Amino acid sequence: MDGLFQEGENRVLRPPSTGVVIFGATGDLTQRKLLPALYNLAADDYLPSEFFIMGASRTKLSDEEFRARSRESLEKFSRRPLDPAVWEQFEGKLFYQPLDGTTPKDFDALRDRLSSMGKERQESFNLLFYLATSPSHFSIVAENLNRVGLGKSIKQGPQQSAIVVEKPFGFDLESAKQLNAELQRHFDEGQIYRIDHYLGKETVQNILVFRFANGIFEPLWSREHIDHIQVSVCESIGVGSRASYFDQSGITRDIIQNHLLQMLALVCIEPPYSLSDPDSIRDEKVKVLRSIKPIGRQDVIRAQYGPGFVDGAKVNGYHEENGVLPGSTTETYAAMRLEIDNWRWSGVPIYIRAGKRLPRRITEIAIYFNHAPAAMFQGRLVSKLEQNYLAIQVQPEEGISFCINSKPPGPRMRAKSVLMDFQYHDSFALSSPEAYERLLLDAMKRDATLFTRNDEIEESWALLEPVFGYWQKGQDTPAYGYEGGTWGPKEADDLLARYGHKWRLL
Ligand code: BG6
Repeated sequence: MDGLFQEGENRVLRPPSTGVVIFGATGDLTQRKLLPALYNLAADDYLPSEFFIMGASRTKLSDEEFRARSRESLEKFSRRPLDPAVWEQFEGKLFYQPLDGTTPKDFDALRDRLSSMGKERQESFNLLFYLATSPSHFSIVAENLNRVGLGKSIKQGPQQSAIVVEKPFGFDLESAKQLNAELQRHFDEGQIYRIDHYLGKETVQNILVFRFANGIFEPLWSREHIDHIQVSVCESIGVGSRASYFDQSGITRDIIQNHLLQMLALVCIEPPYSLSDPDSIRDEKVKVLRSIKPIGRQDVIRAQYGPGFVDGAKVNGYHEENGVLPGSTTETYAAMRLEIDNWRWSGVPIYIRAGKRLPRRITEIAIYFNHAPAAMFQGRLVSKLEQNYLAIQVQPEEGISFCINSKPPGPRMRAKSVLMDFQYHDSFALSSPEAYERLLLDAMKRDATLFTRNDEIEESWALLEPVFGYWQKGQDTPAYGYEGGTWGPKEADDLLARYGHKWRLL
């Protein structure tokens, strides 16, 4: 069955003529991620031959000043060193338009500028509006764009437009619904690209190839053979300079609602009928999210990091971070037990955890298969055989390991677990592109497969609604503590122990 992969192979990689307009062009995301991603796409010759980037934000800058700033960012943040020949071409495609997202007349000026870019080049550019702004500006920018004819209404002409929205997408179910409704007033759903940068990571995309391009795993991929699943998103960094944002959000909103649940959904979906129709994968993801049972109070743990040591360096506790409110109970670590109540997964525990200030940065999905009966090996130093597991490491190293039992050399009949390892860098000898490269290219090609649809967003918030309820003031749900640089609170271990499981040592 190779139908799933066929059409994508033949697709032409280069998008049509495009102008990318970045709102929030002087901000961190643009400097660290977006410009480096666009530069690397240029270096790989993936950009359209007719292409420009229009930075837009409140700071008054000329095109020249924006170019100089962009160059500095690329020197700091590009995954490749700056190549003078590529830069020379790239620089000529950078422009800047001062704009306040809340001032309607600034959008008239933007529209006029964009239209003169097209006229000068005798080209009809598709427009991609990237909202790298504070979420409080998403709706107003969308409204202003539509008002000047660059939103829904643009579809009447040959030119097309789309809007890319960064996370956080809402704060809870109600606000996410409201934001969806507001955006859809000014752009059609097909023009809205909600970005989740984890979906642009190579190993996350590889989940699909791994599951559906190999004949051997799919027959095992169900409650018949799988004992439990663990998904871990661990970071060693603390909240740093983002404390005032994070304190209002917490790790559940910051990581679990989006990155973690998206990865889990891909691990658990039914085979989509095609990889070329964006909705075919997204329909399946929604079904998974919708099938997760309501999360019980006893199956959720939240905690905050205290002072400790990471890599030998002393680190502050959460309450010493600048910007954290006194008495804050915002979680920097959360662990939950989930269950997908459908034919494939019913009864299989799924443990998820995400945390800051853990001993190291690692994102991993581990699938544990059922124990083999050990009776045959009794009396041969084996009382229990190790479980087979498949560990998909998303970062920092990208790869997949399969743990199997094997006989160590020697006269005795014994079994010992060993790893069969596939590491991206060994097999492909290429550095993986940054997630934003893939996602920006897809958005330019109007391929929404790796972007999150409105109903996925709403389902994931709906799933977490009860959890936020348990954590509300007056609910007496404890926020536990853990020492910075450790693997989280003891209560998270107890959660798994209650079901006879243990967190993986990462
Ligand atoms: C972001 C979160 O979405 O993802 C951050 O807001 C987190 O808190 C980051 O650190 C992790 O991304 P990555 O790609 O470094 O794993």
